Amino acid sequence: MSQSTDENVVKVSPYEGTLRGSVQVPGDKSISHRSILFSAMAEGTSRLTGVLDSEDVRSSIRVVQALGAEVSLEKQIDGSLSGGITGWGSKGPERPEVELYCKNSGTTARLLMGVLAPWDITATISGDASLSRRPMRRITAPLMMMGVHFSPEEASKLPIKETGTRSLKAISYNSPMASAQLKSAILLAGLGADGETTVIEPYPSRNHTELMLPEFGARTTAGERTASVFGPVTLHAAEVDVPGDPSSAAFLVCAAMLIPGSSIQIENVDLNTARVGFVRTLERMGGEVSVRSVGLAGKEPYGVISASYTEGLHGCEIPADKIPSEIDEVPILSLVAARARGITVFRGISELRVKETNRVKAVMDGLGQMGVDSWVEGEDLFIEGQPNLKMPKGLVFESNKDHRLAMTWAIAGLTGDQPVSIRDFDSVKVSFPQFMKKLEELER
Ligand code: S3P
Repeated sequence: MSQSTDENVVKVSPYEGTLRGSVQVPGDKSISHRSILFSAMAEGTSRLTGVLDSEDVRSSIRVVQALGAEVSLEKQIDGSLSGGITGWGSKGPERPEVELYCKNSGTTARLLMGVLAPWDITATISGDASLSRRPMRRITAPLMMMGVHFSPEEASKLPIKETGTRSLKAISYNSPMASAQLKSAILLAGLGADGETTVIEPYPSRNHTELMLPEFGARTTAGERTASVFGPVTLHAAEVDVPGDPSSAAFLVCAAMLIPGSSIQIENVDLNTARVGFVRTLERMGGEVSVRSVGLAGKEPYGVISASYTEGLHGCEIPADKIPSEIDEVPILSLVAARARGITVFRGISELRVKETNRVKAVMDGLGQMGVDSWVEGEDLFIEGQPNLKMPKGLVFESNKDHRLAMTWAIAGLTGDQPVSIRDFDSVKVSFPQFMKKLEELER
């Protein structure tokens, strides 16, 4: 299916067989980050299972260790991490001797700003070239309202020096964008403030923070577009079992939908409605896809996603309020849209411009290389599908070192009619190091 060359260029050829059978995908990235950060903040030793072992999650592990948490997670036979984390609890984090380097991980950097807020220590948060280009003012501005200091004061990009305070003010914040990272940073800071801290969002974003904090002893309330915590509170140790990542499952699901004769099941996947918007979108495109709930992991519903090859997929419209529930899936859904009949419209995609790379531009560039038309009107992305697409020979896609683009273009090669190459493919290590292996497990 794929072969590597020297310069981290991977070549993917059209796949002539079918994808069939059941697989599990590695642990959810968002839930893994939170399990590590909350355990580090808590009093006592938390027990974690099914934690994703990826570069982004390793960034969270590295920073909590630098702050004094004791991490004894061990690699399991299925590739996940399990074990204990003993947190700093009421004594607070240690003054770090090194910069808190978050590499490519926006979730680590942004949630960390909230974690550090209630403590009078100073720490420098930094990241790689991609993370250092991403907006941070959206986090520092509300945290400054709560009493946190940042240097430089007007800083909008990493590296940023943060000095927390033991006298944080609780706030009610009207967030200008639907971002779970922003919401979580404020709620985590709110754990150290006196009273109720609330975030109100324009549209609902993923709610893993609100769902997991009560397991660690914090009181939260959550509505459609609001979430609150009540402080001050010291978290206590908990047990977290991390279900599979729907954002990783989406790549396999979309591949199965486009490869004739395929029929797959992804087991033990998180089915939180704030995450599986892509299933609804594929259904609206006429795709044969369904979910079956099995149980709860903590407060997270999990179960099975089934998907089969579907002939006659058609375009659809995805309203802006649904975009946050499939924000990370827009690149791979764009590829399905490129192979569907008619036009697909993703409304309100501005947040996609500030991900690991500008994913609106990157998707349009890649589809353009394939010979598929796409355009932006205001904040809406339009894609004109071509069910009988003939791709040009010798395509070389740029991943821009963005994991989700690397996987999207790999699926373009696998489901297309020409071999393609993808540059900087190893960025898949950020969220789904077993991507190729999981596809191979489904080969029949
Ligand atoms: C995440 C939130 C989303 C998502 C990211 C993970 C999280 O980002 O794109 O991959 O774990 O909270 P935003 O909060 O910027 O939308």
